[in-house]
Amino acid sequence: MNDHYKTPKPSNSGLPQSREQKLLEMLKVADHALKHNLYVTTLNEKTYRRTVPSKEFYVHQWNWDSAAVAMGLIHLDPERAYDELRALVSGQWDNGLIAHITYNPGETRYYPQAEKWHTEQFRRGEIVTSGITQPPLLSIAVDYVYKHSPDGAAGDFLDEVLPAVMKYHDYLKRYRDPEDGGLLTIVHPWESGTDNSPRWDSSYTHINLTDVPQAVREDVDANRTDDKLGKALHRPTQEDYYRFMGLVALFAKLGWDYEKIVAQSPFAVKDILFSSLWARANEALADTLTRVGRTDEATKYHKWAQQTQEALAHTWDEEHQQYCDIDVAQGRREPIIEPTNAMFLPLLAGAVTDEQLPKVLTRLSDPEQFWPAYPVPSTALNSPKFELTRYWRGPTWPITNLLIIEGLMRYAPQSAQARQMGEELVDRTLDMIEKNGFYEYYDPTKGEARPGREDNARQFGFATFSWPAAIFIQLAKQYRKAH
Ligand code: DGY
Repeated sequence: MNDHYKTPKPSNSGLPQSREQKLLEMLKVADHALKHNLYVTTLNEKTYRRTVPSKEFYVHQWNWDSAAVAMGLIHLDPERAYDELRALVSGQWDNGLIAHITYNPGETRYYPQAEKWHTEQFRRGEIVTSGITQPPLLSIAVDYVYKHSPDGAAGDFLDEVLPAVMKYHDYLKRYRDPEDGGLLTIVHPWESGTDNSPRWDSSYTHINLTDVPQAVREDVDANRTDDKLGKALHRPTQEDYYRFMGLVALFAKLGWDYEKIVAQSPFAVKDILFSSLWARANEALADTLTRVGRTDEATKYHKWAQQTQEALAHTWDEEHQQYCDIDVAQGRREPIIEPTNAMFLPLLAGAVTDEQLPKVLTRLSDPEQFWPAYPVPSTALNSPKFELTRYWRGPTWPITNLLIIEGLMRYAPQSAQARQMGEELVDRTLDMIEKNGFYEYYDPTKGEARPGREDNARQFGFATFSWPAAIFIQLAKQYRKAH
């Protein structure tokens, strides 16, 4: 793979450019980055086109990254958007799981490599995946892509992916909400998409490091690559990785039987971010089905969405003024109180009650907490756990900004403040990406991604990242009408 890539600078004739011209120039640069990250592979005698998150490290297909990428691509290259989602569902397990990673064969730079999961018996022919999932952005992307397709172009695509998406929802409902309460259980921090968030600190104390097999720790010590290809200080710690891989080893030992995994995993959490996407994903799936005249089938997903909205509203903790994850591992039921940006995701789900809305917006708009120059930091600035540069413990991430923007806009009809904050967040997110290029995440105080521009090692996360490119396209097209 060629990873020697320089983000082309938007061309500049020296004349002052209008906002519209600047956006259009930047769209070309985003298109270029997504082309750079295109990966074409032939598996089971079929050609797949998928976008890897970053050739610097993430050289496979990631579940919610790809869903976000498809939403950007539909505006520039519809066929590629369809292919992205086709490839994403291609490795679906018989039980309905759509994994968090679908591996590209022969790529070794990412650790853990495919064989570390011991998922061989679930592979679809030559398509090998990890064994866990990620926040369910998929149906939201399918609905968005279908809605923004050029007339008549998306029929075949929908016929192909819709059955897989419905089966995936059945998997999530059956295995991740066995008590039928509306909130979904994640069993690995990687499933949250926010791997080392302070939200998981208390649950980590229940994963005893001495229970992680020696062989697993040795494997991490010998083979971990993210801290060598990226900057170790920005990445999760070695102990985090022992726990990440200890859980993988345990699940493999349980034969990837999800009834057992959900019941026995020392890490099992009702995640408010994951559940918020779940509520929105059910609405999106119901909308897609309604759009193609399958209204009877839509009813089930409407009900699931509503159930989750109510359950999310009930996680509100008045004392701490936030929605809470709940640690449910091994019979526990402990609310998790950590000030992170996950607490704003119930906006996306439409779960915020009239009484909660002003409180949520007060918290979000506080410059000391979540509304610095470049919101929304992954952890509140005034939290003792805030770390400016470490992965999900401080930086601003374009993906959570996109979801919070959608959430704020959802409440715009009833709240001028939500609308104004949503508009402002669109501008700040576009600005942050435009002035840096496409990085994994950004400094919330200055909006920078490369504080010492010449010093490449200090960049925030991995570069030429697909998410920010796709999200830039989506925001520019959807909210700034860049054509
Ligand atoms: C990683 O490896 O950093 C991913 O977030 C796990 O999916």
